[in-house]
Amino acid sequence: MPTTRRSVSHTAASGCKPAAATRGLRDGLFIVFEGLDGAGKTTQIDLLATALRQAGYTVICLKEPTDGPWGQKIRQATRQGRRQADPEDELTWFLEDRRQDVEQNIRPALAQGCIVILDRYYFSTMAYQGALGYDPDEIRQRNEAFAPPPHLLFLLEIEPSQGLQRVQQARQLDGFERLDYLQQVDAIFAAMDFPYLRRISASDDIETVQAHICQEVRETLTTWPRTDLSEKDVG
Ligand code: TYD
Repeated sequence: MPTTRRSVSHTAASGCKPAAATRGLRDGLFIVFEGLDGAGKTTQIDLLATALRQAGYTVICLKEPTDGPWGQKIRQATRQGRRQADPEDELTWFLEDRRQDVEQNIRPALAQGCIVILDRYYFSTMAYQGALGYDPDEIRQRNEAFAPPPHLLFLLEIEPSQGLQRVQQARQLDGFERLDYLQQVDAIFAAMDFPYLRRISASDDIETVQAHICQEVRETLTTWPRTDLSEKDVG
């Protein structure tokens, strides 16, 4: 993952005011990407952000776990092998990390009319911590007490074994990445059902996946209240 995405600080959102030539949205648009590791989230987020910026929108890319104190704690525990961490502690860390992200980055950027693209959100907590035995719906409710649901949620779907293979080609596996565990994570993702959820087959080639995502975003933007009247296209 590029470090730029991880290291967005609480000052990032205040720098996202559209410049004079950009296209203004009256309300921010919140897009979340989810999926197993190796599904291609990073690539697709970069392509979507580029297309949207070229079309004149102000885009903020964020990532969870963040680079904040809670996110660092999570990464440290993962590096040491995830079974070292108490699942209850781990769940608390993900929630606290998100609480900060929502307060410091997500809500301010949306309030300024930015397009916020987030790499992983509470759907990951439902799936990954749910696979450790927690009730996914209870996790969702605990999150939604402070975290706004997205307007669009792209779930990039890939076979767990294929995802693992892709990751393994690029780097060493971390403590979250074991086939039996990822199969349970995958089953929870597969059972999700939300009006804003868009399932995308991530085993297709990059351009095909990108075209599907851009099409969905374009359709959403068509109906989104804006502060300008221009008609430039996305993607
Ligand atoms: P990931 O985005 O894959 O980070 P990296 O760029 O270091 O690979 O996130 C790390 C892991 O964290 C990932 O395998 C999924 C897991 N995770 C959870 O278990 N719960 C959560 O709430 C989130 C956001 C991530």
